[in-house]
Amino acid sequence: MSSPALKQVPLRPFLKWAGGKNRLIPQYQPYFPKSFNTYYEPFLGGGAVFFHLQPQDAVLTDINPELINTYCCVKEQVEEVIDILHKHQRQHSQDYYYKMRSHIPSPDIERAARFIYLNRTCFNGLYRENSKGKFNVPIGKYKNPQICNPELLRSASATLRMRNVKIEKNSFEYVLEFANSSDDFVYFDPPYYPVSSTSDFTAYSRDFFSKNDQTELKEIFVKLAGRGVKVMLSNSDCDFILDLYSQFKIHKISAPRSINSNGKKRGNVSEILVTSRDL
Ligand SMILES: C[S@@+](CC[C@H](N)C(=O)[O-])C[C@H]1O[C@@H](n2cnc3c(N)ncnc32)[C@H](O)[C@@H]1O
Repeated sequence: MSSPALKQVPLRPFLKWAGGKNRLIPQYQPYFPKSFNTYYEPFLGGGAVFFHLQPQDAVLTDINPELINTYCCVKEQVEEVIDILHKHQRQHSQDYYYKMRSHIPSPDIERAARFIYLNRTCFNGLYRENSKGKFNVPIGKYKNPQICNPELLRSASATLRMRNVKIEKNSFEYVLEFANSSDDFVYFDPPYYPVSSTSDFTAYSRDFFSKNDQTELKEIFVKLAGRGVKVMLSNSDCDFILDLYSQFKIHKISAPRSINSNGKKRGNVSEILVTSRDL
């Protein structure tokens, strides 16, 4: 079923996401499997790889309940989300941003529009919560932020509706219950292991992604690979991660380092892409 107002625009994430992979897709392209049936993305975020691959069957999960609610509302009620976003667009100002940030409405649809509004206007599209679980990112320095892009939202909605896509709030271990054969492709994009003490790449949600989580994730990678599942994982290029995945194929990726409060440290940084075998 396609929306009558749907224009064909290239698919890309409708959210700005710290650590989003949109710009790395050309470097990932040679490593995507040639064939698979079901695609799993357990650290969904902005879902750059999902929107690029547009698989027919997919299971998309993330631990962030507000993010998952937003995907569900964009999928099922995109016109209502667009209407509310237009209202936010008209009222946007610094005061309005902080008013919206401090108040979490109850209806799912209002929460989804608030999530997109804050995502498009906050500093660098970061998602960070304080110890009470409240979003606490300051407003970004944008002169004229694009708060509502109806075509992009409608395309994302149609992609999610026209395919067999399951969207759920879940932790990454959940993938083990479902992915079990070479027909399955799992792409893991966890919060990166910090390369320095000042790196804040783990601050995506109230649940800090610890060294133990990285080790547990590697064990899941091993189990899936043992089942013949096609597995791919992104992470930082550092000794701990290189050791963890030394039994697999490791490819170096050059990524723009965009989230850094210190402007002097912008530039490219080496990351890695691990693959379970010749995909
Ligand atoms: C690097 S981002 C993913 C970016 C995404 N690939 C993209 O292109 O936008 C990491 C994501 O992992 C999620 N996350 C953190 N801990 C998690 C956990 N234990 N289980 C599942 N998701 C988790 C965060 O909410 C965040 O959305």
